[in-house]
Amino acid sequence: MPRPTIQVLPDPLAVARAAADVVARVIQRRPTAALALPTGRTPVPLYAELVERFRAGRIDFGRVRGFNLDEWVGVAPTDAGSYAAFMERYFYSGVNVPPANRFIPNGIALDLEEECQRYEAAIRAAGGIDLAILGIGNNGHIGFNEPGTPFSIRTHVAVVAEETRRANAYSFADGRVPERAITVGIATILDATEILLLATGPEKAEALARALDGPIDPAIPASALQRHPRVNVIADAAAAQLIARRD
Ligand code: GLP
Repeated sequence: MPRPTIQVLPDPLAVARAAADVVARVIQRRPTAALALPTGRTPVPLYAELVERFRAGRIDFGRVRGFNLDEWVGVAPTDAGSYAAFMERYFYSGVNVPPANRFIPNGIALDLEEECQRYEAAIRAAGGIDLAILGIGNNGHIGFNEPGTPFSIRTHVAVVAEETRRANAYSFADGRVPERAITVGIATILDATEILLLATGPEKAEALARALDGPIDPAIPASALQRHPRVNVIADAAAAQLIARRD
């Protein structure tokens, strides 16, 4: 199994530019590419960079499909704390991904189980994910696949770890973070043709090192990526400070 390519850059802006280069390359090769899209603080500079390149006429999202990795259960897309609102604010309002090509799990679906299956089927119908862009949680989670999640799992309702809820309190005005989320599963992520893992800031250093250098272990969900043949890791120096190997 080829090991992940690890690129260490000075700061989050450089990470965003390098990540945008990967996205541009994938879309150039396949204009209808299906992208798995992350939320959180990490990808914000990437989305800003992609919007800027779109405005400059350097990239066209006119046939791209976007599949968000996750959404909070019980949070309506119109709620400011939803990932749907996040995507609108940081990405979709600034680019030309057709609205029909923007997929986000519905956190207020009456039947959450059915919603998970519908979402997984939509990804399958798109021909699978071409590029899965991921952040990493302080505890090594990817999407909302928290420590202990089986690697064989597909889109499901996940119980969000206490630590993760605390880290996300900033996105809810009342500080009340939902206990559950719908997330694309690890097996769905591993099915992607290519994976781009982004990490910035010192609070990610330990999780990133354990994901890349440690044993493949569900205790660190991101370590599952060692099983994928095509992973690009782009990290800033702060996040990469504990990793043993770099390219
Ligand atoms: C959140 C999201 C993840 C994200 C991670 C890191 O809980 N569900 O998809 O990658 O936590 O977030 P941040 O980039 O804000 O550190």
